[in-house]
Amino acid sequence: LSSLSFKLPPMGWMSWELFRCNVNCTGKYHDTCIGHDAFVKQATVLIKDGYFRAGYNRVHVDDCFANRQRDPVSGDIVADPTRFGTGGMRKLATDIAPVELAVYSDCGTMTCMGYPGSINHEVHDAKLFFQKWGATYLKYDGCYNNITGYPSGYAKMGQALRSAGGEKTYYSCSWPAYLGDDETKKPYAQMTAAGCDLWRNYGDIQCDLGSLMDIVDHYGDYSKFLATVSGQGKGYNDPDMLLIGNTCIPDGAARLQMAVWSILAAPLIMGNDLRLVPTPIRDQVLLNEEAIAIDQDPLGIPGYRASNKSDVAELWVRPKLADGGAAVAVVYKGGSSLTRARLERNPSGSAWTTRKIGAVQLGKTKKLTLHVPFGAEIGWSPPSGTASVRDIYARTSLGEHTSGVDVSLTVTEGIPETVLLRLSDAADSRAVSDA
Ligand code: GLA
Repeated sequence: LSSLSFKLPPMGWMSWELFRCNVNCTGKYHDTCIGHDAFVKQATVLIKDGYFRAGYNRVHVDDCFANRQRDPVSGDIVADPTRFGTGGMRKLATDIAPVELAVYSDCGTMTCMGYPGSINHEVHDAKLFFQKWGATYLKYDGCYNNITGYPSGYAKMGQALRSAGGEKTYYSCSWPAYLGDDETKKPYAQMTAAGCDLWRNYGDIQCDLGSLMDIVDHYGDYSKFLATVSGQGKGYNDPDMLLIGNTCIPDGAARLQMAVWSILAAPLIMGNDLRLVPTPIRDQVLLNEEAIAIDQDPLGIPGYRASNKSDVAELWVRPKLADGGAAVAVVYKGGSSLTRARLERNPSGSAWTTRKIGAVQLGKTKKLTLHVPFGAEIGWSPPSGTASVRDIYARTSLGEHTSGVDVSLTVTEGIPETVLLRLSDAADSRAVSDA
């Protein structure tokens, strides 16, 4: 397949995290089910609240939209008419425009929830998704197949999708997520050759802090390897949906997730209810144009965890950005076993408390000062000898520095926190501010 050099990690909103397989769209479930109106509502907020303008340009319908059986005459997969109306997916694509539609199918006989899969229907289904429905993205799951079926199954759909939809369509392959945990044993070059633009490497994210931290650790452990097999023209690693904007994680974990995902050049696909995202988190994190710019850096070269795994402080870096600068995340994971606690919003207010899992209690608030050294450890040093440092979430400059920069975080044991920095050569940033 030809060069995919124009492709950056996709951005959008996906139904699976919160709406799951809710096929009951009646009464109070009307807006949170797998049905036409619920998707239109999310797309409306996507536009109204500034997400679309910031780059989140797609709404992803995940599993459970279809009738259990294909249409006996046409052989088409059909969106359930009681939930999507007779206009089906085509009508949905029209009704959410200019937001684009992403659809879901499976490289097997059935999807994970038992709806029709696309194996042996690749050409037919690719035409249906991309030409009849007008989708621009396919997430292709891996249930109801086996390891030996993936290489040919994913390649077939890759080819069908490109001939039906063209080069600009996105092809998200869940293939590596079904091959176990050792990333170094997975055939990433084969996935690139199959046309995958991105791939889910690992297990599903759940709406809780333990799941988020487990994923952060997995990608941290393998990020240096994964950075060599991924990136623009190869395919992006997908650590799964953003939990940001949900009440299942505290705000510091939202900052952590956005920072780590941006460092990794990961897709920014939200798994929240856009109508309920708190404004401060929306504006500081999800719509933070400088964080998004790191994620969407045109070079598309993924970063990695530069330090060892640590419950206290990790350094994540993306040392090759298009402007010659670098991005660094100073990640506080919450301290030892405390990170495994589930945190929930206190029913009576906005404070965060642990759910009663074991005897975990939130710890004390303290100030951490962490040093970010320029040079080999972060893979970047300022060419002129002086760097200017920008705190992305605070939207402030931290001044000019020569050998490194000290970063202070106020943290509460048990609650993650992250500072995201952009480093640029001081000569460059002076030139920018003079202009
Ligand atoms: C798998 C995927 C999830 C979701 C569900 C739907 O578990 O990894 O992201 O698509 O299937 O059934």
